[in-house]
Amino acid sequence: MQSRDGEAVLSVKNLTKRFGSKLVLDNISLTIEKGKTTVVIGPSGCGKTVLIKHLIVLLRPNSGEVYFKDRRIDNLREDELNGIRTHYGFLFQGGALFDSLSVAENIIFPIRQHYTISSWKEVEELVKAKLAMVGLDGYQNYYPANLSGGQRKRVALARAIAMNPEIILYDEPTTGLDPIRSDVINELILKLQRELKVTTIVVTHDMTSAYKIANRIIMLHNGKIAADGDADHIRNHPHPVVQQFINGQVGDDDLAVLRMSGTISQAQFLPRDFE
Ligand SMILES: Nc1ncnc2c1ncn2[C@@H]1O[C@H](COP(=O)(O)OP(=O)(O)OP(=O)(O)O)[C@@H](O)[C@H]1O
Ligand SMILES: [Mg+2]
Repeated sequence: MQSRDGEAVLSVKNLTKRFGSKLVLDNISLTIEKGKTTVVIGPSGCGKTVLIKHLIVLLRPNSGEVYFKDRRIDNLREDELNGIRTHYGFLFQGGALFDSLSVAENIIFPIRQHYTISSWKEVEELVKAKLAMVGLDGYQNYYPANLSGGQRKRVALARAIAMNPEIILYDEPTTGLDPIRSDVINELILKLQRELKVTTIVVTHDMTSAYKIANRIIMLHNGKIAADGDADHIRNHPHPVVQQFINGQVGDDDLAVLRMSGTISQAQFLPRDFE
């Protein structure tokens, strides 16, 4: 399957997803190109996580299809999907590490799920190499509780790349990090794309990060793709919803809700230290 410019690695066709009566994705079609970084943006709750979970079939559509290369995958059994998933690395929202496992054990975890380990020396070397990529070689025996938020994200990233995936999905990789740590993650994403030629899909609210790493930015709104193009296309997009989102402006609907909610008590303006 070919997309506009390059080879398609993932594609969705007429994807619709509902939860109960709530329509989250409304007949979305999308092709992800090999070796490119595609960033998905959009307001909280608009379906970004739901969309990327369909790409790895952690969710199944109500209607529509999902393809990995030319193979339809949304209708595969779990055991068939396990084979397909070895091509993916993913860093989910919250980047959850297993608290009871050391950093090294966390990184080995996905390898153990898919392979029988024959040489521990090789595994040790692999863990060392992956941790070095995220600047954390030497932290093998630490436990997640003793790492900072940024270090935990980087370990989760090392785990995501443990099996040299062709595709990496990142859900909010920079959320909760300070600007410097966020930029370290941006640089890592760029480096992985450059050095491992991975196809990258990133969900983010962080427009600085989006502009820095994206070959293509897709904005979701009301279950549809509201904008799709490179950073300049998005910056100059005429749709007010896109401009409000990228400039962090409150829309008319949100303002109407605020007006309706009456006087806000002073207690809600206590400084963060008092929360
Ligand atoms: N398993 C589920 N069951 C029911 N509803 C769900 C489920 N997962 C997601 N939803 C709903 O689907 C909608 C989209 O959720 P999603 O997590 O994709 O939002 P998002 O765009 O990733 O938001 P955020 O930026 O806050 O992470 C929300 O209304 C959410 O409540
Ligand atoms: Mg989300």
